Amino acid sequence: MNKVTVQCPGTVANLVCGFDILGMALDAPFDIMEVRLLDEPRVVIISKDGFPLPSDPAQNTAGAPLLEMLAELNGDALATAGRRLSRPVGFEVSITKKIKPGSGLGSSAASAAGAVVAANHLLGNIFSKEDLIRFALFGEKVASGVKHADNITPCIYGGVTLIRSIFPLDIIPIPAPPLHVTVVHPQIEVRTSDARQILRKQVLLKDAIRQWGNVAGLVAGFMLQDFDLIGRSLEDVIIEPIRSMLIPGFDAIKQCCKEAGALGGGISGSGPSIFMLSKDESTARKVEDIMKDIYTRIGLDHHTYVTTINQQGVKVIA
Ligand code: HSE
Repeated sequence: MNKVTVQCPGTVANLVCGFDILGMALDAPFDIMEVRLLDEPRVVIISKDGFPLPSDPAQNTAGAPLLEMLAELNGDALATAGRRLSRPVGFEVSITKKIKPGSGLGSSAASAAGAVVAANHLLGNIFSKEDLIRFALFGEKVASGVKHADNITPCIYGGVTLIRSIFPLDIIPIPAPPLHVTVVHPQIEVRTSDARQILRKQVLLKDAIRQWGNVAGLVAGFMLQDFDLIGRSLEDVIIEPIRSMLIPGFDAIKQCCKEAGALGGGISGSGPSIFMLSKDESTARKVEDIMKDIYTRIGLDHHTYVTTINQQGVKVIA
C-alpha cells in the first residue's frame, strides 16, 4: 500500500476550565487528507482548497510533524528499537480543509494529527499514539508558537482527553456520556498566538482554587455521567473573561443557550467559535437557533454545527 486517505475530526480544546489540558473530538466538521509514500526522504504539501497555507513543509502544520518523523526514522533511536526502514521514504500530503484555520476548532491539529496517523498507517503502524502526539506537537508549534496538545490528543484518540503533562507525555482518555454539541463559528479570525499573547501570566490563588475545583468537577462529571455536575463545572474564571472580549455576542449566547436548557459551554479553543453541550438533540437544535438568531441580529456572518462527540479520532477511510 502506498496511499491512504484519512478523515480528521475538528476538536474543542480547553473545555472551558481546562486550559491546555482538556479537549474533545467532534463528528463535524472534519478535514480529509490523502498521504502518499515517496521513495525519497522529503515531504511535499498539496493544498486542495483556497486557504493560503504555507507549502514549505517546515512551515506547514502537516509538514513539520512529518519532517520530525522522517528525522526519527533516520536516527539511532528507532534503529535500536528495530524500527529502521530498509529503504528511504517520504510523504506527499494532499489536504482538503473543511475546518477553517483560525476558527478555534482545531484546524492546525487536524492537519498535524491526520498527517502522522496516515503516515504511520503507511509504515505499518510502527509508532505508538504517544509517538504520533510527540510529532504532531511540532505542527502546533508552527501554528501558534507553542506546543499544546489539547487539540491533537483528542484528534488522535477520539473522545474526551486529559493531558496531565506534555513533558513527559501523560494522557488519560476520559469516558464521557453521549452528549450533543452545538458550535457557532462567527466569521472572524482569532489567531491562537494572539489569543495567547493577551492572557495574564499570573493568576490569583483564589481564581486558581476555583479553576481546580471546576476541572476536577468536570472530569468527575464526565466519568460519573452527572450532567448537573458537568454543567456546574463548565466555568472558567481565568481565560474566558479576557478572551471573550474578542468574540462579539459571547455573553448573550452563553446566557440564552443555558436558559434554553444547554448544560453549559464557552469558547472553543482560542475562539472565536463558541460551543455548548446538551443532553439531547432537540435542546442542541434549540441552542443552534439561538446562536443563529443572535448573530443575525448583530449582523455577523456565521456557521453552525450540531454534532456529537467523535469517539474514533483520525480514521482511515480509503
Ligand atoms: N489550549 C489552546 C489555547 C488551544 O486555548 O490557546 C488552542 O486551540
